Amino acid sequence: MTADLFESLGATGPAREKLAEGALLLRGFARPQQHELIAAIDAITAQAPFRHLVTPGGYRMSVAITNCGDVGWVSDASGYRYDAIDPESGKPWPAMPPPFRALAEQAAAEAGFPGFAPDACLINRYEPGARLSLHQDRDERNLGAPIVSVSLGLPATFLFGGLKRSDPTRRYRLEHGDVVVWGGPERLAFHGVAPLADGEHGLLGRKRINLTFRRAR
Ligand code: SIN
Ligand code: FE2
Repeated sequence: MTADLFESLGATGPAREKLAEGALLLRGFARPQQHELIAAIDAITAQAPFRHLVTPGGYRMSVAITNCGDVGWVSDASGYRYDAIDPESGKPWPAMPPPFRALAEQAAAEAGFPGFAPDACLINRYEPGARLSLHQDRDERNLGAPIVSVSLGLPATFLFGGLKRSDPTRRYRLEHGDVVVWGGPERLAFHGVAPLADGEHGLLGRKRINLTFRRAR
């Protein structure tokens, strides 16, 4: 399409990269809001600190997580689920800050999913060596809504595959401010993150933070 001809070229490639029919990488999309986002993350984690969850299989996750929104994703011996209460504090998760919601809505609309109204945001913290093995996001009741994923801090290698675990995966370098949206035919695509390489990010230091927005209920 002619529109593609006018896309700007950043240092790491085109500003928008189609990963599959329903999956788009928007490079640098969250950069204008970086300071606001980081301040909001600090406020959320002061109320609901990052923690390492244990999977139902008994493994401690290398990624530390917390949540904001009406419900948060939790894992324990009984399984994975969304819960309105933070099990650590016994209180509701911190509310989703308006700039989070606005960014997620804009990115979804940009990727062809207008009207996205996330009710959950999982916040993942990766320190060097942390990884997320190949999985599907399938604990949400509303699979009609996309997933919007915002990367901040150190760069990571994102793995994006198909609808079967055995499908080949492609690797994408995600940098500070990059946003990936997947939905429609790709909503249940397998994805993961390779072990984080060590480094130092100007704003976030030795870590990567990822926000994933979902419509859980
Ligand atoms: C996720 O799958 O929940 C997070 C993906 C990422 O950290 O990029
Ligand atoms: Fe995921």
